[in-house]
Parts: sequence; C-alpha cells; structure tokens
Amino acid sequence: MGSISGSRRVLLTGACGFLGSHLSDRFLADGWEVLAVDNLLTGRQENLAHLRGDARFQFIHHDVTLPLALPGPVDLVLHFASPASPPAYRRHAIHTLTTNALGTLHTLEVARACGARYVLASTSEVYGDPDVHPQGEHYAGRVDPVGPRSMYAEGKRYAEALAMASHRAWGLDVRIARIFNTYGPRMRRDDGRVIPTFIVRALQGQAILVHGSGHQTRSFCYVGDLVEGITRLTTLDGLAGDVINLGHPQEHSILDLAGMIRRLTCTEVPIAHVPRPADDPHRRCPDISAAQARLDWSPRVPLQEGLRHTIEWYRAALSADGAAADASGLPQLVEAQGVELDAVPHGRQVDKGVAGA
Ligand SMILES: NC(=O)c1ccc[n+]([C@@H]2O[C@H](COP(=O)([O-])OP(=O)(O)OC[C@H]3O[C@@H](n4cnc5c(N)ncnc54)[C@H](O)[C@@H]3O)[C@@H](O)[C@H]2O)c1
Repeated sequence: MGSISGSRRVLLTGACGFLGSHLSDRFLADGWEVLAVDNLLTGRQENLAHLRGDARFQFIHHDVTLPLALPGPVDLVLHFASPASPPAYRRHAIHTLTTNALGTLHTLEVARACGARYVLASTSEVYGDPDVHPQGEHYAGRVDPVGPRSMYAEGKRYAEALAMASHRAWGLDVRIARIFNTYGPRMRRDDGRVIPTFIVRALQGQAILVHGSGHQTRSFCYVGDLVEGITRLTTLDGLAGDVINLGHPQEHSILDLAGMIRRLTCTEVPIAHVPRPADDPHRRCPDISAAQARLDWSPRVPLQEGLRHTIEWYRAALSADGAAADASGLPQLVEAQGVELDAVPHGRQVDKGVAGA
C-alpha cells in the first residue's frame, strides 16, 4: 500500500485535547505542517506548549460549529474536535451535538474545497450498550436516541452519516476511526474517564470509587498505539470509505483495573463501591480484525506498561503545579509564535446545564 505525499499540510481540529495534542506531535515528527484548530472547551494550553517556536505549527482559536476560513489549502483534515468524556459531553450537551453536526459539515466542506483526505474521529459509543461481543464494524449498535449518552452517541452517528454521505455524493476520500477507550499522559485530571480518575484519586490518597460490583469490563488502548493506528488509517492509500475500529481487544474488569492502579501507584488507598449509573455499558470490546487486515495494526503496549507511563506523568503533573495546571489560555501560544492565527472569526458556544456524572 502506498501513502499520501506532496506538500503535506494537515488541518487538525481538537488539537489542544488529549488525542489531538499527541497527533500534533506525531504529524510534526513525520514532517507535516500542522494547522491546529480548537476552541479550548476541554483542551488545554499546556498540551501544546512544547510546540512554541515550531514554525510548522500554527494555531487558530476557533469553534468549528462556525464555518472555517483557513490561511491556505490543506492535504488532509483530521476532525477530532468534540467533548469526549461523559461529564464533558453531558455538561456541554447541545455543543456536543452541534460540534458533531455543524463541525463535521464545516470540516468536510474544507476537505471538499481543498480536495483533501478526511478522517473522522468517531467512537465505540456508536455501538451503544451492545448485545454483540466483541463489536465489529458491521454491528449497527444498540443506542437509545434520547438516553443520557445520546448527545454523544447520536452526535457521532450523525457525523459518520454525514462523512459517508460526502464520500458517496462528493467522492471525498473519507475514513472513519471508531476509537475505543484510550488513555495516557495529557488527559485532564478532571476528565472523568476511569483511568485518570482512578490514578488521580490514588495519588492523592483518596479511595478509588468503583461503580457497582466492578465486574463490568472495558478495554484500554495506550495513546501511542492509537496514534500509530490513526496515522496508518490516515496516510495509507486505498481506504476511502472505510470504517475501522481502533482499540485494545483485551478486556479488563473495572475492579481489576482499580487493583492494578493501586499496586502501580504503591498506595494503600481503599477501593470503595458506589452505585452504578443506569447507562453504564456492561461490556465494550473491539473486534480489530479490520484494522489488522487493512492497516497491519494492533496495539503493542500492555496495560501495566501504559499505566506506568501514565501514572508517572500524573505524578509529575500533580507535584508540578497543583490545580492551576488545568487553566487554559492558548492566545499566549499564538503570540509566542509571532503568527497571526486569530485572523479568522472565532466564537465560543458553551451551553450550560447538566452537571457531569
Ligand atoms: N480518548 C478516547 O478514548 C476517545 C474514544 C473515542 C473517541 N474519541 C474521540 O476523539 C476525539 C478527541 O478526544 P479526546 O479524548 O482527545 O478529548 P478531549 O476533550 O481531550 O479533546 C477534544 C478537543 O476538542 C476541542 N473542541 C470541542 N468542541 C470544539 C469545537 N466546537 N470547536 C473546536 N474545538 C472543539 C476541545 O477543546 C478539546 O481540545 C473526540 O472526537 C472523541 O469523540 C476519543
């Protein structure tokens, strides 16, 4: 299989977030110019601070629910902007839906105007609370359209439908990554997903709170493996119209995860059980045979090893600056680079409401 070549400029939305920041690093390392777009809703300045001074990196503070005007053409669009953790997408419910609807439309329009390849960050949540295990790409899912996760699951299902319609109607080279639980350094300590929550509580000497019995299972993919999968899905030729699961196929119970984190952090914190949310899926596990066959990809990093890296990162972050580290303020980054990146209109639409679970 060949790979994309030429001027190699990528538009990456959600670049200040957990995955977006690692993808920024990877694409810069691979010789690309990165045009990063984010509205800083859940993303953080610190995630990209190390890129200050890199002339191949530009930042636009912009909300993708508004049309994008770019300073020049791009070869590739990676649409990763969206709240991703349950507390974040519940707190920003309308914004999550509009980001996945309007944001996807606007970024597809950019790809169409530039003749660029397009990669959508979708999610295992499109499978809902599945009654098929593991979940393969042909499984259509079991999603409640008005349930408490629907703003995210249905937002992503709509985004997939729009991306696929653009592939069929406009002939766009669209690829869809259905990403399963991914973890690693740079997730916000208040992200709300299970691994950062457990690690931060253990390091702060607080009880690890397990929902229900803890026998429900999840699979966890280390961010380095996920970035490799996205890179392959993005750069290999011959994948237009493909939908591919990316995640770790090994299941772990939440109780085992809690025990592992307690051991690896060398803390004696208790494991306490709290009521399980009604919408908590019982099992989630990807069938990655399409990724293995089409991308020659499977995750390499064992859970213990990925957790060790992640714990070390949180330990350093917690001791470095306490709570202030989660404050954002990317305009400083723009000034530091001396690039006029804020020239396009930007807006910030944040709906108020439901507190995170
Ligand atoms: N991390 C995972 O395990 C996982 C799993 C499945 C899918 N995904 C998908 O990957 C993408 C990134 O997830 P993440 O874990 O890095 O989350 P994240 O919250 O760390 O990053 C999302 C980024 O998008 C930005 N953003 C949100 N709305 C925006 C808007 N309207 N305009 C511009 N920027 C906006 C946020 O500020 C943030 O920087 C999301 O689309 C998510 O649905 C992630």
